[in-house]
Amino acid sequence: MNKKTIILGIESSCDETAASIVTENEQGIPIVLSNVISSQVDIHKQFGGVVPELAARSHIKKIDWIVQKAIDDSKINAEDIDAVASTAGPGLIVCLSVGLNFGKSFALALNVPFISVNHLEGHALSPKLNSNLEYPYLLLLISGGHSQYLSVQKAGTYKRLGTTIDDALGEAYDKTAKLLGIEFPGGPKIESFAAKGDPNKYILPKPIFNKGGCNLSFAGLKTAILKISKNIKNEQEKFDLAASFQKTIEDILNKKTKIAFSEHEKINNLKKKTFVVAGGVAANKKIRSMLIKLCDENNYDHVFPSIDFCGDNAAMIALVGLEKFKMKKFDNLDHPARPRWPLDNEAPFMKGFGVKL
Ligand code: KG4
Ligand code: ZN
Repeated sequence: MNKKTIILGIESSCDETAASIVTENEQGIPIVLSNVISSQVDIHKQFGGVVPELAARSHIKKIDWIVQKAIDDSKINAEDIDAVASTAGPGLIVCLSVGLNFGKSFALALNVPFISVNHLEGHALSPKLNSNLEYPYLLLLISGGHSQYLSVQKAGTYKRLGTTIDDALGEAYDKTAKLLGIEFPGGPKIESFAAKGDPNKYILPKPIFNKGGCNLSFAGLKTAILKISKNIKNEQEKFDLAASFQKTIEDILNKKTKIAFSEHEKINNLKKKTFVVAGGVAANKKIRSMLIKLCDENNYDHVFPSIDFCGDNAAMIALVGLEKFKMKKFDNLDHPARPRWPLDNEAPFMKGFGVKL
């Protein structure tokens, strides 16, 4: 029997230090042998967001034992590893450098190939870790760092249909939470506040609602919430503001997802329509039920990857490593960290002054 390919994946692009061992079965279905994640929420919550220097220090402190634990949990020996895959971008450069350099050294020590991985590609393929999805599919990635609609055509081929031109959606939840005195990361608490409030109490802006295709924008919302939050007098008004924010987000995602559906259908010859929603914000129950209803109305199957693979993790990085290993796409040890690394090279840069919608 042939030895199955075994990949060590390492992730440190933001505030999760993670390592994972992934292999595959005879049918080529990926199997996660271990998936170790250490979150830094406790370090950053007093600052209301991720502090890059503190995040990098924590990665440095933990990376050795996280990788060791991933190897131990998987019950393989380090010598069985066929390649090491590390996230090289996009992300915070001081954080990326930790996992990237560790991965390169580990590959060198084991004398196996090194593979650099685009973190967004990890998210794009992550549903393959626990479902037998067929290409192509439409992916909505909504996390603390990214908000994108991607048409995933096959491993290595992605078409970005839309992206945020300013804040990520999770960031918008966290900033709103901060203005309401909720500690980081405030997304889940905003959801529970919203359940107790009146969604029609405050009229909030819906930036680029009627233009820009399925691109997204959330910065204007934060400014409006800042103004209103200064006049909040009691708990009920906080609940009402959270509910109005939640409702506004649902309206924006409803409209933009319909546009993404039609763009995805235009560029693919679809036998089956599949919509995958990944990233931390996909845990939001109201967003989930709105998107599920939208899928039912538009004949899409909906897939929400399991929570373990939804947020940042290294299993998705090892999975991309496995795909690249099969294609013999290896990298040199001088491969740089790439804080900005678009998945679709044809897609225009969409942040800051001069962006055309
Ligand atoms: O993908 P993720 O776990 O990690 C990174 O982005 O690194 O996403 C975390 C984000 C945070 O902004 C958090 O506030 C948001 O997901 N989030 C939520 C909910 N649960 C997590 N936002 C809204 N509603 C939720 N239930
Ligand atoms: Zn991520």
